[in-house]
Amino acid sequence: MVPDRSSLSSSGTSTVDHHRAGRIAIIGATGVVGREAISILESKGLSRSRILALASERSVGMTIPYASDLLAIESADACDFVGVSVALFCASSDVAQNLAPRAIAAGAAVIDNSSAFRLHPDVPLIVPEINRAALAHGSTLVANPNCSAVILTVAVEPLRQAFGLRAIDIATYQAVSGAGQGGIDDLLNQVKAAALGRTQAPSFFREPCLFNVFSHDSAIEPETGLNVEERKIIDESRKIWSLPTLRITPTCVRVPVLRAHTQAITVELDQPATERDVRDAFAAARGVRVVDDRVASNFPTPLKAAHGDDVLVGRIRPDPGTSPDASGRSRRWCLLACGDQLRKGAASNAIQIADCLGLLTPANAQATSIAIA
Ligand SMILES: NC(=O)c1ccc[n+]([C@@H]2O[C@H](COP(=O)([O-])OP(=O)(O)OC[C@H]3O[C@@H](n4cnc5c(N)ncnc54)[C@H](OP(=O)(O)O)[C@@H]3O)[C@@H](O)[C@H]2O)c1
Repeated sequence: MVPDRSSLSSSGTSTVDHHRAGRIAIIGATGVVGREAISILESKGLSRSRILALASERSVGMTIPYASDLLAIESADACDFVGVSVALFCASSDVAQNLAPRAIAAGAAVIDNSSAFRLHPDVPLIVPEINRAALAHGSTLVANPNCSAVILTVAVEPLRQAFGLRAIDIATYQAVSGAGQGGIDDLLNQVKAAALGRTQAPSFFREPCLFNVFSHDSAIEPETGLNVEERKIIDESRKIWSLPTLRITPTCVRVPVLRAHTQAITVELDQPATERDVRDAFAAARGVRVVDDRVASNFPTPLKAAHGDDVLVGRIRPDPGTSPDASGRSRRWCLLACGDQLRKGAASNAIQIADCLGLLTPANAQATSIAIA
């Protein structure tokens, strides 16, 4: 259910002036996405007094280092969100469903990393490089897309813009941190045990992570055989691009990598293109960095993508299963992409959205209108 928008005027603008308040609440501050969001806010120079670190009752009393100081974790359940300009939800869908209405009623804009509201027709699902225009002035609830959908859409957007899109095949190789702190703990515990010559049974995933690759741990739809991650890639990419019938064929797999997802992507374009055209499109794109040196065999890897905001793209080549036309142009192109799913797939994208809405910069607090390019 989408939060009650009764605090909104008919123009969609909150009746509470949240832009003046200035505090930034992180709900799920102890989790992997929440901690990443806090570290990005710290690197942007936001003062500690503006950050409200919230988590479950279990974490109350814990602290997180911030700018040579400490942030005390407070209870999200007990928070009234008064004085909060933006609430970055970095917790489960249930937590977002329960607490987002309270945050909105108190005048905060909510940016939610969970899947709770992503497909609701009234909620913008935003990747700023692609569809920031879908952010309305005074947007009160914005959804951050699934991490794999963000990485895919950012990687393919330069080709979509230049040549149009007909279809995408994608196979993912997803890091264990995509499932949260529990996924990291599972892999690290198995690594430590292996170093001592022992075997550690999984306690979070169903399958062992170490020395293994397994089908994505989300539930399988019995009727289609798709898992939930694959369904999210299809539905959310279509919504981000406003291409409701785009053919997308995903297979999602978990690999023993700590952070940053890898994707093998084949795109079918509306207009055929030469390799020069394709490379030029990537060279001019925002949020994408080409790593594609065939001589040195230098291509995207999760380690190269980790801790950065760019999606790395390489192995750019025409589909060898099709022949180029007489002008040397092909419709189908293969790529390898890697992106840090904790940053561009979650925390950085959410903070970019807050920036687009003018919610982070105190200088913008007096602004009466927010320009969205
Ligand atoms: N991991 C990724 O790569 C990724 C990417 C995109 C989107 N997401 C989404 O982002 C959200 C957070 O994922 P995560 O990977 O950071 O998970 P995580 O590491 O397991 O962290 C979960 C966070 O939720 C908090 N939490 C649990 N119950 C709560 C409650 N009742 N009230 C307030 N906070 C509560 C936890 O606090 P305690 O420590 O107190 O339990 C913790 O801070 C999820 O919706 C996930 O689907 C994750």
